Amino acid sequence: MTGAGMSAESGISTFRDSDGLWENYSVEEVCTHEAWLRQPEVCLNFYNMLRRKFKDCKPNEGHKLVASLQDQFDVQVITQNVDNLHEQAGAKHVLHLHGELMKCRPEGRDQGVYYPLDPENPDINMGDVDSHGVQLRPHIVFFGEDVPNLSRAADIMETADIVVVIGTSLNVYPAASLLRYAPSNAPIWLIDPKPVFSPYREVRQIQKGASEGMKELVEILREQ
Ligand code: APR
Repeated sequence: MTGAGMSAESGISTFRDSDGLWENYSVEEVCTHEAWLRQPEVCLNFYNMLRRKFKDCKPNEGHKLVASLQDQFDVQVITQNVDNLHEQAGAKHVLHLHGELMKCRPEGRDQGVYYPLDPENPDINMGDVDSHGVQLRPHIVFFGEDVPNLSRAADIMETADIVVVIGTSLNVYPAASLLRYAPSNAPIWLIDPKPVFSPYREVRQIQKGASEGMKELVEILREQ
């Protein structure tokens, strides 16, 4: 299970560190369901800005090491990140809990309906509509909205033999609650340069960044 820290070494800001994204932008203004209803253009502009900012970001060594484990393990990535760096690194099974920056969907319709954005011109503007005339919005789970992939993520967690948590403050629910579904005999490894409090049970923390931490963990897992 990965969070913003997974992509920090790719140049993507985390949310809650000093100088994280939420220090510079107000969640209430750009990323809540109420904000979307009240001022959709502000929300669209915020995500248009993020797409431009992250356009040239590439997977880091940590993403590549996660994907490399696929030769020996059935790796299921559950990510809170809206970038597609796990996929770019070659991860085959990636479940996005909070949506995907490079997709859009019609407002108010089934969340299963979404479209890829044109990488050359990925902005979404007011007046951009689907074939039914419905306004398009980012395929992002705003604060205050349901997390449609939560039960699929819980199913994955319930079948885990080993859980690895990388770069998340475990501050945001319901994502953080997924650890509750990990089988009691499955070790939980946590990679993060800062100490992270796990609300459910003991974890084995590797207190390093994603790339260095993954190098250490890959050696441990391959030796087992
Ligand atoms: N490698 C690994 N972890 C790192 C690194 C790094 N190089 N740099 C920072 N971190 C850690 C931080 O120490 C912190 O614990 O990444 C974590 C990032 O935490 P948050 O900024 O809270 O991000 P995240 O947990 O992913 O946030 C969850 O909140 O804002 C919403 O929807 C957004 O998906 C996001 C959700």
